[in-house]
Formats: sequence, C-alpha cells, structure tokens
Amino acid sequence: MGYRDHQQEVTATFADRYGEHPAVVARAPGRVNLVGGHVDYNDGIVLPAAIDRWTVVAARPRSDGRLRAHSTHMDESVDARIGDEVDGWAAYVVGTATLLADAVDESVGADLAIDGDVPLGAGLSSSASLEVAIAGALDGAHDLGLGERRIAELCWEAETEVVGVDCGIMDQFTSALAHPDHALRIDCRSREVDSVPFVSEAMGLLVVDTNVSHDLADSGYNDRVRECDEAVAALDEVLDRRVRSLRDVTPADVDAHIDDLTPPLARRARHVTTEIRRAEAAADALARGDVKTLGELVWASHRSLRDDFEVSCAELDVVVDAFHDCDGVYGARMVGGGWGGSVVALVQPGGAEAVTEHVEARYRSAAGIECDVYEFDVAGGLAVETLTSG
Ligand code: GLA
Repeated sequence: MGYRDHQQEVTATFADRYGEHPAVVARAPGRVNLVGGHVDYNDGIVLPAAIDRWTVVAARPRSDGRLRAHSTHMDESVDARIGDEVDGWAAYVVGTATLLADAVDESVGADLAIDGDVPLGAGLSSSASLEVAIAGALDGAHDLGLGERRIAELCWEAETEVVGVDCGIMDQFTSALAHPDHALRIDCRSREVDSVPFVSEAMGLLVVDTNVSHDLADSGYNDRVRECDEAVAALDEVLDRRVRSLRDVTPADVDAHIDDLTPPLARRARHVTTEIRRAEAAADALARGDVKTLGELVWASHRSLRDDFEVSCAELDVVVDAFHDCDGVYGARMVGGGWGGSVVALVQPGGAEAVTEHVEARYRSAAGIECDVYEFDVAGGLAVETLTSG
C-alpha cells in the first residue's frame, strides 16, 4: 500500500467516525540513518534518509481545544484536551498538540484519524513520523504557517518531554525536512540541513527488522547520553580550550588523554569523535556518488557502535555479519538507538533477492526467530494537502 491508499483509508475512517470530511491530510515518513549513530545529541553530523513508509493523519479543526483521535493502526481512540496526560500512542498526539498550542498561543483542538505503515519498534522512527504528521495536520488545519523547520523543532521537544528520552534532533528533522530521492546531511550543532542526492541508480536500501526490542532501549540510551556528558566534563578539564560537547574534541585528543578518562568513557568518546568524521566523509562520498567508500564507512560505523559505544546486540550483529558474507553489499549497520531494532544495508541494484534469502536463513538458524526484510525507496519529508471537499 502506498501513501495514496493510506490517504484514502484515513479519509474514509475520518468520515465514518466523525460524519464529516477532513480539511487536511498530512503524511510524514520514517527514516534510516546511513552513518552518524549516536552523534546527534553530541552536536555531530548525521546522514539519514526518509523511507517510503508513512504516518498519515486526516484532520479537521475544532475551536473548543478538544482532541479526538482514532488510530486504525492500533484500533484505539482517545478523547482528550490540550495539556491532558495520556498514555501510549495518544501521548504523542496530545503531547505534540500541547507543545504546538503553547508555541502559537492558541488552541489547536481537532478531530483526527491516523493510519500508517512505518514498522513499530523497529528503530525506524515511527514515533517521530507520528509527531511530525500530527503537527503538520494541526498546522494545516489551523493555518498556523509554522513551516517544516519549526515543526521539526517542536516535535523534537515533544519527544524529549513526552517520552523522557534525551534524544537528538535527527529523527524529527528528517521526517519533516527530507527531499525525495535525497539523503540529508544534518549538522546537529548549527542545525544546518543539506540535501545530498541518494544515487538510487547505484544502490538500493534493504532494512532488516530483527524483531527484538530490548528493554534497555530507553534507559540504556539515556545512560549513553550521560556518559558522553561525563566525557565532555573530563576533557573540558584537561584540554586547553573550551569543550562544550564531543563535537569540540578530535580522536587525537581522546588518544592523548586516554588516562584522564575511565575506560568506558574513553571508548564512548572514541566512537563519537570518529563517527562524526565518518559521517562527514560519508556525506562527501555520497555527494560524489562513491558508493564503495560510503559502504566502507557504513561497516566501520557498525564496528564502532558495537565495540566502542556498545549499543549493538547479538541479533543485530548476526544480521550485519550475514550481509558481510554476501556479494553486492556495499555496507550494513544497525540503525536507531540500539539493543534491537533494525539493520540498514546498501546493496547493488537487482541484488536484493539473493541477499535477502541468505540473511533470512542465517538469522533463522542463529537467532531462532524470523526477521522482516524491507526494500525501501528514499522518500521526501512532511507533506500536507488541503482537501477541496473539506
Ligand atoms: C534514536 C534517537 C536519535 C538518535 C539515534 C541514534 O533513534 O531517537 O535521536 O540518537 O537513536 O543515532
């Protein structure tokens, strides 16, 4: 099903539940990240791409601050007010609406119907795509004129406040700002965003969901954020210049001050400082269409996330190793926060079928469960359509 089908479904659901047509339909994609793992909250460089899986939201404005939402994905509804505390997926809806209402200082109530096909819990940013689609729908329905960048910033705030994960800006920025057929080079310090052509004639995207999501995902993530902060404080003491984040540190600084850092902090800092350089090199390689060099940086990114940052797990490593055995694979690495979720691989066009068979068989025998394999196209970010019948 493409987003047009989801749009039709969500419009029909809306009419069914609320007895009226929606005024707008917004869609926002999930994402993969090619290189730049766990560097967004260290002011680093990331190289993500939006995928052709979407959260689609139909909306009609209300003037009484009430939010009624129905998710076909979850087959659940919520009826709340801006500012209410609710749980689960509804928290993303109400949390995003509340941040938006605060930012524009007006009530942004609405009736909403939500559908979509971003795999959940797979490290592909289904939550960011939900936030961005909700914000885009409310922006369109109330004619707020916020623009994609402001929407991305507000959705990032919603994620950190609602979920309590100290995540970086990558997911919401990608879902809101991506251009079709382009990856994004995001400088998470300056928040400058550049589009880099994806060269889909030279490579395709395969994503393997391991179907494991470890409990560590949230707590372990926040631990890593804290360790990076500790490394910054330690290096700020010993370097002869101001260190505000690991962006201000080079891999050579880390080597020179290895004794000033406890062993895990040294490894964490080494990952972040080398990964930022890999992401910069990867963006340059992609811009030149040099998929071989890009692929080498992708493999190296996984090794560093596994050994120095220690956010991989046995299931992710099995999949990356299985890709490594195959011809026609430029590179593969884990995506997302870690300890489960998905692996992204860059493969030669036409090579996906044989590679998929090999990876599925290896995973089945090593992990004892099935993985899900997806072939994605690189998509554009948030799009909002006003419906004439609305
Ligand atoms: C999660 C977070 C992102 C980013 C990645 C790791 O997806 O939401 O902000 O930190 O992990 O690169």
